[in-house]
Amino acid sequence: MSDSAFIEVRNLSVRTADRTLVSGVNFKAYRGRVLGLVGESGSGKSLTCLSVLDLLPKGLVREGEVYLERQKLEDYPSIRKLRGGQIGMILQNPMSCFNPVFTIRSHFKETFSAHGMSSSENTARMLEALKEVGFSDPEPVPDLYPFQMSGGMLQRVMIALALIMESPFLLADEPTTDLDTVAQAQVLDLLAILKQRRGLGMLLVTHDLGVIARLADDVAVMRNGEIIETGSVHDIFGNPRHRYSQKLISTHLDFSGQTTDGNGNALCL
Ligand SMILES: Nc1ncnc2c1ncn2[C@@H]1O[C@H](COP(=O)(O)OP(=O)(O)OP(=O)(O)O)[C@@H](O)[C@H]1O
Ligand SMILES: [Mg+2]
Repeated sequence: MSDSAFIEVRNLSVRTADRTLVSGVNFKAYRGRVLGLVGESGSGKSLTCLSVLDLLPKGLVREGEVYLERQKLEDYPSIRKLRGGQIGMILQNPMSCFNPVFTIRSHFKETFSAHGMSSSENTARMLEALKEVGFSDPEPVPDLYPFQMSGGMLQRVMIALALIMESPFLLADEPTTDLDTVAQAQVLDLLAILKQRRGLGMLLVTHDLGVIARLADDVAVMRNGEIIETGSVHDIFGNPRHRYSQKLISTHLDFSGQTTDGNGNALCL
């Protein structure tokens, strides 16, 4: 490998017995940079994301290579430790990711024990993580049950859980889609702060080009299981080459008129 990519995906395909769902996907993602993955529903974004952590559902087969810091995924001694260790993951619907009969504290305990750490030593760490994701008074949070929290609060807890082991990289699959607009803005602000403060790298799946303009440095556009175009946010918004990307951008601009790139620079087309 020629550079310091944190994740490199080479010629990734995902198949069922009789269908190819993702085909010939290549990309590199870096610490401290956000790679946005956009494309219509069913284009293969989530399957691509899941492949990186070897989390494809049963019946789906991955082909091609995934390298994490130059090491092949298959060669990692513990993929379980890699998840939440080297790479955190957050998903679209926070409610579905929490067990309703367990408190937030139990969810942290489970994460700690998955990484071989005793939870008693880690109360301070848990409270600090909750503070980092925006709970100014974190003390009561561990004793709450998921149903006692809003979607936005749960998504922030999920980010705290995903990053509790100081993961340098986050996979975020539609992290704001199911949230109301105020919670969406809070989660986006939080991800931007974590990128800046921790140098967190991200693979950010979204159908919302406003989110891409706000957070991403680079973009890969997917269609029918393939990446059809990649480039910097500025290039993709300013000079999309593929007809599909052009359509995607122009539809977005019809709604928003103008947007900004990841550095806050206005992109006027
Ligand atoms: N377990 C599965 N078995 C068979 N086909 C699947 C499975 N999971 C996903 N697919 C199919 O693979 C294709 C890609 O799915 P994927 O979930 O990656 O799309 P996506 O781009 O994330 O879409 P969305 O924006 O709706 O989340 C779709 O056609 C989907 O129906
Ligand atoms: Mg998806």
